[in-house]
Amino acid sequence: HGTPDHRIALIPGDGIGTEVIPAARRVLDAVAVRHRLSLTYDTFDWSCARYLRDGAMMPEDGLETLRGYDAILLGAVGSPEVPDHVSLWGLLIPIRRGFQQYVNLRPVRVFEGVPSPVRGAEPGAVDFVVVRENVEGEYGEIGGRLNRGLPGELAVQEAVFTRTGVSRIVDYAFTLAGRRGGTLTSATKSNGIIHTMPFWDEIVAEHAAGHPQVAWHQEHIDALAAKFVLDPARFDVVVASNLFGDILSDLAAAVAGSIGIAPAANLNPERVFPSMFEPVHGSAPDIAGRGIANPLGAIWSAAMMLDHLGHAAAATRITDAIAAALATTPVRTPDLGGSATTDAFTDTVISLL
Ligand code: NAI
Ligand code: MG
Repeated sequence: HGTPDHRIALIPGDGIGTEVIPAARRVLDAVAVRHRLSLTYDTFDWSCARYLRDGAMMPEDGLETLRGYDAILLGAVGSPEVPDHVSLWGLLIPIRRGFQQYVNLRPVRVFEGVPSPVRGAEPGAVDFVVVRENVEGEYGEIGGRLNRGLPGELAVQEAVFTRTGVSRIVDYAFTLAGRRGGTLTSATKSNGIIHTMPFWDEIVAEHAAGHPQVAWHQEHIDALAAKFVLDPARFDVVVASNLFGDILSDLAAAVAGSIGIAPAANLNPERVFPSMFEPVHGSAPDIAGRGIANPLGAIWSAAMMLDHLGHAAAATRITDAIAAALATTPVRTPDLGGSATTDAFTDTVISLL
């Protein structure tokens, strides 16, 4: 082997997570042979199923266990029998925060062969990335509720923006825009949110001065959401706070045609900790167990993982095979209007690598 081993932690999770992760692994193995990569895997059953059995989504030393891996590939967690905040705060958020995965990267492409619900969103023309701040902002734990059940009941939730936190996400986004030879759009709302968002805008402007080759502008989140639908082709890199980025990236996934195809990376750019790669979709209990989940989001996430591990050519080989499968064959899963199984679509991608 020409490259050192990469040790990958697989966390399939619940529902269709347990169907799409094996599919992604099959694609990884096929690419590894062709690019002489050595990938080894350990699979962890951390999930809502484990929570129902053992009372916790993951063991107490779960983060210590994961720390030794080069990357984490996660399916989805969530079960109708477990409140969603348990699955989120019991596994995903501890990993994202504990490993300082402060970049949530979500590429969006309209593929030939997957019609967008948005008129005029042409294949090739829509190809952008949402860079979401992933560890602070609006999703804080500071706040509380008072006078529960009384007429004077109230709830307060603080948004926390730090200079360090905003600077590093904005810097990442400018650097990415520079590397792509593209433009940067900053999502803001400094007309209505009068403390945190002007602070965000100031830091964006400071960083713009350090990246004179990158054209940029800022846009209020409400107008920006409308433009995602009206003119998605104009975007290249979009940087946003945790909440704005969460909403924009789901909207963008819908513009691209299906939640089942959207990938995401949770990156620790300094590589002090492993990064985590996961499809955007959830555990889809409505179709779980039938072998018809679209594995594309998980496969594309695996490609992002290879890219992060330094294997850009292998990653592109996967995304090219995905694009070819959609453009040149009728094989697709039911969410994209086809009748193929998860395995059949995965076989098609592998045959086109
Ligand atoms: P979901 O993404 O699981 O499903 C939404 C709809 O899209 C469903 O109709 C589903 O069948 C369809 N869908 C999703 N992925 C698909 C795929 N790969 N192929 C074909 N169809 C697909 O979102 P939902 O229903 O809101 O949540 C279900 C559970 O998943 C909840 O417990 C939720 O908390 C959890 N969830 C977990 C996430 C994660 O682990 N990162 C993210 C989103 C939701
Ligand atoms: Mg979301």
